Amino acid sequence: MINAAIIGASGYTGSECARLLACHPRATLSAITSRTHAGKRFDEMFGHLRGHLDLAFEEFEPAALAERAEIFFCAVPHASAMHIVPQLLAAGKKVIDLSADFRLRDQQTYETWYQPHTAPRLLDQAVYGLPELYGKEIGSAKLVANPGCYPTSAILGLTPALRHGLVDSDGIIIDAKSGISGAGRGVSLAALFAENHGGFQAYKIGGKHRHIPEIEQELSKAAGRNLRVSFTPHLLPVSRGILSTIYAPLNDAISDEQLFDIYQSFYGECYFVRVLPPGRTPSIQHVRGSNFCDIGLAVDRRTNRLIITAAIDNLVKGAAGQAIQNMNLMCGLDESAGLSQVALFP
Ligand SMILES: NC(=O)c1ccc[n+]([C@@H]2O[C@H](COP(=O)([O-])OP(=O)(O)OC[C@H]3O[C@@H](n4cnc5c(N)ncnc54)[C@H](OP(=O)(O)O)[C@@H]3O)[C@@H](O)[C@H]2O)c1
Repeated sequence: MINAAIIGASGYTGSECARLLACHPRATLSAITSRTHAGKRFDEMFGHLRGHLDLAFEEFEPAALAERAEIFFCAVPHASAMHIVPQLLAAGKKVIDLSADFRLRDQQTYETWYQPHTAPRLLDQAVYGLPELYGKEIGSAKLVANPGCYPTSAILGLTPALRHGLVDSDGIIIDAKSGISGAGRGVSLAALFAENHGGFQAYKIGGKHRHIPEIEQELSKAAGRNLRVSFTPHLLPVSRGILSTIYAPLNDAISDEQLFDIYQSFYGECYFVRVLPPGRTPSIQHVRGSNFCDIGLAVDRRTNRLIITAAIDNLVKGAAGQAIQNMNLMCGLDESAGLSQVALFP
């Protein structure tokens, strides 16, 4: 069995890693940390894992933790992760970081969108943890930068079209909606039930969301040239789930069936990407609780645009599930080990 530990297990993504590890056939969760809840039992806070996890939160003490686990999930906010991750790597451990701190290859880009980086030498070492595109590199990585939730849906949705030159890389619009757990478990006015239930609104309009450079980094690689996207996120009044609707100008006429064949063959070996047949559209209800990304495709012949819809669960394929998928690859396991959950419908 592989011994794993979670730094920041009292948050949404950390506790979701715990849920998935509790049922993993080849990994055991051996330690969980939280600064504010050290000493408290995990199931005192998270009743859904009562009887499945016999652990208490502890302080982050790298030397002591390093003796109890070989692989670490770091599920803390950006800017904090860049201080924690180097200590775990120095102790010879493998790390999957769920924050944005190691996702961007370019330090200056990171510092433009976030803040100064205190461990920039690790940016070159980190492998971007999207298994469908970087599976081989992830297999031998020591540090995997788990992708953001919005970027996972946008990059999986657009990469085949860009790699095949189906669309013009100028003029891509990504209109994305996320459930409220995307903002984390910290208390904030914007996340209150009464502020969201029955409502629906866009936020960070005008190219301001920090996931933009990550999306552009990966889509530029797929296109073979630097591109820019218009990205507008929305806050959907549900707990979890992301639906991204993506518009891209088509280069040439193409049928829905041809599109489906191209996407289907691109993701042929990828268990967690389901390309839906023409006429079907993905729903967050069909992926909630699972590690699947469902992709729907349609041609708008009036405007000559490709319309891609991509649905994921932000806490699973958008965070913890993808992190477990990465752990599986880093440890030489089948990438789907422990990730056989089907979606919770309705
Ligand atoms: N929510 C999502 O859908 C999602 C998806 C993809 C990626 N992510 C990323 O995953 C990371 C965790 O997100 P989350 O949604 O799980 O956040 P969260 O619910 O707010 O949880 C954050 C966790 O980090 C700990 N923490 C907070 N500040 C810390 C600090 N300065 N040093 C050490 N630990 C600290 C918290 O516990 P204590 O305060 O008790 O220590 C808590 O366990 C973030 O980087 C986020 O951007 C989130």
